[in-house]
Amino acid sequence: MKIGIACDHAGFDYKEKTKKFLIEKGFIIEDFGCNSNESVDYPDFSHKLSKSIINNKNELGIQFCGTGNGINMTANKHQEIRSALCWNEKIAEQARLHNDANILTMPARYLNWEEIEKIIVTFINTNFEGGRHARRVKKIKCF
Ligand code: RB5
Repeated sequence: MKIGIACDHAGFDYKEKTKKFLIEKGFIIEDFGCNSNESVDYPDFSHKLSKSIINNKNELGIQFCGTGNGINMTANKHQEIRSALCWNEKIAEQARLHNDANILTMPARYLNWEEIEKIIVTFINTNFEGGRHARRVKKIKCF
């Protein structure tokens, strides 16, 4: 599976850890930056990640900023993106089961690595349930 990753300076360390963790598990990772702890603007990286999912270059995305909010808001400006701000495994599981989320967003300043690892594994290993949820997901887009 191909997974895109992105972050701002607040999420850089966890983005790097995520990349290493997933490559070791055999995933193909496309890294959209940023590439250091130096202050940057999260939309610059989140838009690139979002476009790669819309263009079918990556199946799923994972992104971090300090609170998760700014980078999550950015991704969700794209009609085809359903980015879920997740801070525990249960929310990550439901984001896939019920919302067919295609980007996992996490608040780097409010989670530790142990929590992040569990959230990532759950998100990647959970499939969309479909059924009544498909009807609801179809209604998310605005025209
Ligand atoms: C950066 O200081 C911080 O504002 C950013 O990482 C994020 O939390 C924004 O939503």
